[in-house]
Amino acid sequence: MASVGVVTRLLLGKNVLSTARVALPNTGFVKFYSAAPSYENIKIDVVGTKKNVGLIQLNRPKALNALCKPLFVELGKAVVDFDADDSIAAIIITGNEKAFAAGADIKEMQNNTYSSNQRGGFLKEWEDVSRCGKPVIAAVNGFALGGGCELAMLCDIIYAGDKAKFGQPEINIGTIPGAGGTQRLPRYVGKSKAMEIVLTGSFIDANEAEKMGLVARVFPAEKLLEETIKLAERIGSHSPLIVKMAKEAVNQAYETTLKAGLSYEKSLFYGTFATEDRKEGMTAFIEKRAPNFKNE
Ligand code: CAA
Repeated sequence: MASVGVVTRLLLGKNVLSTARVALPNTGFVKFYSAAPSYENIKIDVVGTKKNVGLIQLNRPKALNALCKPLFVELGKAVVDFDADDSIAAIIITGNEKAFAAGADIKEMQNNTYSSNQRGGFLKEWEDVSRCGKPVIAAVNGFALGGGCELAMLCDIIYAGDKAKFGQPEINIGTIPGAGGTQRLPRYVGKSKAMEIVLTGSFIDANEAEKMGLVARVFPAEKLLEETIKLAERIGSHSPLIVKMAKEAVNQAYETTLKAGLSYEKSLFYGTFATEDRKEGMTAFIEKRAPNFKNE
């Protein structure tokens, strides 16, 4: 019988790979990352002092990180892998100084037709990010336009560098937002502002975006990633189980009536009382010590 081994992470180059468990003689189950997918359009890393933050950097700088299908397939896989990894508390999606992402790839979709979009379920890969149970934070420097703004809005929190620019400029190229811009943007900023942004195609800067409630906080561009990692680490100091329930409860506010949402929240709140981490959190408070959460 194999003994319980140390849980180990192997990073091959910069690519964290899909997780697997193997029984090794006398070492027990060792978690490792196997068979590197050779990501071409993103880079991934595990960061933070406790190495519990999954970092995904969009990596098509020449095209301002235009969101082509292969990029989204890779992004979806990276998010799913980090979501399944118990050592990861939160995920950050970022771009580079010039662009978070300048939208869906116009060159890729130029010759699409209505029927090819329908047949192929154009943009269906984007749903993987919104299905993630763990907190996903967008760290936006530079352009977040069209699908880039929509990708940021798919995330749970948006932090921005002071030179970031947001917009839904699809109207300028004869189409409309197709990955949530007409639905999520009004929920962030209200109808009048959303209409202005969608109907004019004009850009808003980071400070304006913060005032509107699209962005949670703005930092000097060069500090953005560092501050976003701090946020992810702070979230990571809590019980992952309870963080997941809190995320689910807040997201429910976008899906339902107030009455149904309050009832959903109450069920999850009651549910926390079935967890060891709720017991530990309250006991630690009363004993005036730091809690030791176990994700149980
Ligand atoms: N798709 C494909 N390529 C893009 C792109 C996009 N969305 N945005 C920029 N690029 C490419 C440019 O074609 C250019 O490539 P080449 O050097 O090969 O010509 C390169 O990135 C650099 O771009 P620019 O030379 O245009 O850079 P700039 O600094 O002068 O302008 C910009 C920057 C204002 C962001 C401008 O690139 C721009 O307007 N981009 C398009 C923005 C847009 O319309 N986004 C919405 C896309 S549709 C969509 O997203 C639908 C949806 O809802 C899902």
